[in-house]
Amino acid sequence: MARQATRSVEELDEYLGLVRAAGLDAPWSRPGPLIESKKTRVQPCVWRWAEIEPLLERSADFVAPGQGTERRILRLANPGVPERTSTHTLSVAVQYLLPGEVAPAHRHSPNALRFMLRGQGAYTTVDGDKCLMKPGDLVLTPTPMLHDHGNEGNEPVIWFDGLDSPIVRYLEALTQQRHPEDRQDIGQVVGASERRFRAAGLRPATAAAAARPGRLIHYRWQAAHAALEQLAEVESDPFDDVILEYVDPATGRSIFPTMACYIQMIRPGVHTRAHRQTSSAVYHVVRGAGSTVIDGVRHEWREGDFFAIPPLARHEHANEETEPAILFSLQDVPLLTALGLYREEE
Ligand SMILES: [Fe+2]
Ligand SMILES: [Fe+2]
Repeated sequence: MARQATRSVEELDEYLGLVRAAGLDAPWSRPGPLIESKKTRVQPCVWRWAEIEPLLERSADFVAPGQGTERRILRLANPGVPERTSTHTLSVAVQYLLPGEVAPAHRHSPNALRFMLRGQGAYTTVDGDKCLMKPGDLVLTPTPMLHDHGNEGNEPVIWFDGLDSPIVRYLEALTQQRHPEDRQDIGQVVGASERRFRAAGLRPATAAAAARPGRLIHYRWQAAHAALEQLAEVESDPFDDVILEYVDPATGRSIFPTMACYIQMIRPGVHTRAHRQTSSAVYHVVRGAGSTVIDGVRHEWREGDFFAIPPLARHEHANEETEPAILFSLQDVPLLTALGLYREEE
């Protein structure tokens, strides 16, 4: 026979006092389920290039890299996320570097990527491999690789950084180290990772590659764009239209265990079907204009804008212009997949 709970309120209070004093919690003493679910705090939002660019330029009046700050950045702050990151798992910041400036060498536990936006002459050196970044290029700095950036051109340069730092901080594994020198030594060949992994479907089979596998860290815009246009001739997706994922060519896996990057084209006249995913995403509009309906609210976007989609928010993209719209996005899909939590529903 099941035992009946018969004690008085006073006896329960006394008992709960003892439970707390012993460093324990009795969740059954409160109403509601024992494991509470949590609604996302991430909000759908759009960050406008028309606002970002002038504020970024003005930031040079207040800060310079190396003088009290490591980076001249403006972060895309989601109003729902207390830590002021772009979603609960992704942190995106736009970075501005004047001619001759250097962002000093360092390494950190979060994985990072950068997507080049404006200007010529920027480089990122990753473990001695110098990558000359042109607009639309993607360069990875996987943990814990040493990296530094600079602007060797004669105009300001702008790129954005994407990091999995919110996850790494949550796991209490966030570390950061400055390199003793501002710049690291550069290998004899510029763009070594690109030369090793030049063509899709081919990887170096040399003894040197077996000894030190390495990975592709520089993904060129020209190649990504050409691949997108060719995929458009073959097939498209009902929810994303024409879409490619950037992967590690040596393994075929997403670029990071925590974050995946995609390039996609919403062709003129296309209105995708709505779906929702357990992952969150930050999109950047590389070219063109269009709109995305997120949980019933239509958000228009144009070249340079960014927008965020929270977990399980229903969304659909549309392009009513005459030119294709191109979106670059970072999404926490691999992290949710690894945990068995990735779900996608129409
Ligand atoms: Fe960094
Ligand atoms: Fe989606």
